[in-house]
Amino acid sequence: MKDIQTFNMIATEGLNLLEKDKYTLNETKEPEALLLRSKKIHDMAFNENLVSIARAGAGVNNIPVDRCSEEGIVVFNTPGANANAVKEMVIAGLIMAARPIYRGINWLKELEGDDISEQVEAGKKQFAGRELAGKTLGVIGLGAIGSLLATDAYHLKMDVIGYDPYVSVETAWNISSRVKKAKSLQEVLRDADYISIHIPVNGNTAGYVNKEFINMMKDGAVLLNFARNELIVKEDLIEALDNGKLSKYVTDFAEREFFGHDRIMMFPHLGASTEEAEVQCSIMAVNTLKYFLETGNIINS
Ligand code: MLT
Repeated sequence: MKDIQTFNMIATEGLNLLEKDKYTLNETKEPEALLLRSKKIHDMAFNENLVSIARAGAGVNNIPVDRCSEEGIVVFNTPGANANAVKEMVIAGLIMAARPIYRGINWLKELEGDDISEQVEAGKKQFAGRELAGKTLGVIGLGAIGSLLATDAYHLKMDVIGYDPYVSVETAWNISSRVKKAKSLQEVLRDADYISIHIPVNGNTAGYVNKEFINMMKDGAVLLNFARNELIVKEDLIEALDNGKLSKYVTDFAEREFFGHDRIMMFPHLGASTEEAEVQCSIMAVNTLKYFLETGNIINS
């Protein structure tokens, strides 16, 4: 019997793949494997039996990967399994940055009286927005999410420029041939009205969006971050929003310093929170882990 400890909700559909006579769930403090979603793994979770950690999600910044490498513990994530969910959320963010829908909804809720249609027609001018069509979207990071976004934004009639600090656009995940390939970060920042960032956070990318990065952006551009908070130097971002260099920041990550800033729109890390993504991530995580525990091999390696 192999012992697996699960942290956070891992969809039942995934857990059902573990044959109950072969695996014990949540029954030991010294499991061979950990299956988790967003919980941060602390030193206490390590034990002599531990051989693998599987994360039902893309980012692995809640796992001490350096320690795992030193101790020979294999870490898995589920690349691509929630990419569509995150991409849809980014598109919602793009639309909400361009059109003040949210303010309009809140305004409408406050209206009183029976002549609602008249009040709406008289007051709606303040919520006029801009169209995305014809604007330029720069996508930084062309993995699963960035590639899907680039392709879909093209179909929204945006001009799309793709750039990846690690892989060439030609080798990117699955990108439309109509996406323009930027040769440098400068090029994408200079030309884009909207910049969406899709790179993992690690020792090299923490603070990637700093004063220098922001200064290269087009005046009045919008920055979207559905990747990770740590990519952004908060003080530099706030300064740029305060002085109008950037017109908006749309993010899936809450920060206390951002509360009350009227150029910041924050979502509570909802990008991957769809039923479909949870099922897909859990199935991929469980399958990968199971295969490794049974064969000692890594799927697709
Ligand atoms: C991910 O890393 O896959 C996303 O941020 C979603 C999540 O962690 O729930």
